[in-house]
Amino acid sequence: MKELALKHLAIIMDGNGRWAKERGLSRTKGHEKGANVIRDITTYCAKDPEIESVTFYAFSTENWKRPKLEVEFLMKLLDSYLKKELKTYQDNGVRFQAIGDINAFSAKLQKRIQDTQDATKENTNLTQMLALNYGGRAEIITTVNALIAKGKMILNEDDISTHLQTPYSDIDLLIRTSGEERISNFLLWQLSYAEFYFTQTLWPDFTAKELKDIISQYKTRTRKFGGLA
Ligand code: FPP
Repeated sequence: MKELALKHLAIIMDGNGRWAKERGLSRTKGHEKGANVIRDITTYCAKDPEIESVTFYAFSTENWKRPKLEVEFLMKLLDSYLKKELKTYQDNGVRFQAIGDINAFSAKLQKRIQDTQDATKENTNLTQMLALNYGGRAEIITTVNALIAKGKMILNEDDISTHLQTPYSDIDLLIRTSGEERISNFLLWQLSYAEFYFTQTLWPDFTAKELKDIISQYKTRTRKFGGLA
């Protein structure tokens, strides 16, 4: 039987707070450890010749509801992550791309995001997308409104798929950590035919070894896309 292809992987990173609580640490320590895991998983994906793109849910449009200090910490962590990991992007041939509405971020952070995108745009091993101030419904609405503004009166699936922020729109496999089983407004359009995998592992404990095992399991599944096997 032909193995399933895996071009676009998406990950909902969940459980940073619980990981920290279990250790009597502040939630920010969980986020810090979580950021290191993003690096490890990205590096692993860059070495897998089949994976073209990995998209991480880093900050949702709903995450603004968190305490101000935690939001501020996440913004600072993102800035220092992009600064520190530029070398990792370049060493591993990773192109960085933000999806979501980054206009809500500080000018400094927006510049960091833009500069990192520009510096890595020629890299071809992997595209790493960070969903930042991202919401799946908002993305669809923005896409549709942009097409209407261009004069489109009637839209088809291709119109929307090709105008979303994700260059490879269809997700093959979605992983969510920490035992929660929902999609939380992530990539609603692009997940239409994705396979889902939920693991109990908290994001800071997630490893490349576990990803490898999940991919092996995914490869044994049958995807019918509404047809017959
Ligand atoms: C969920 O854990 C995690 C997030 C808020 C998103 C992921 C954020 C990171 C991995 C931090 C670093 C990100 C970057 C890009 C530098 P939670 O806080 O909801 O955990 P809980 O459900 O256990 O409270």
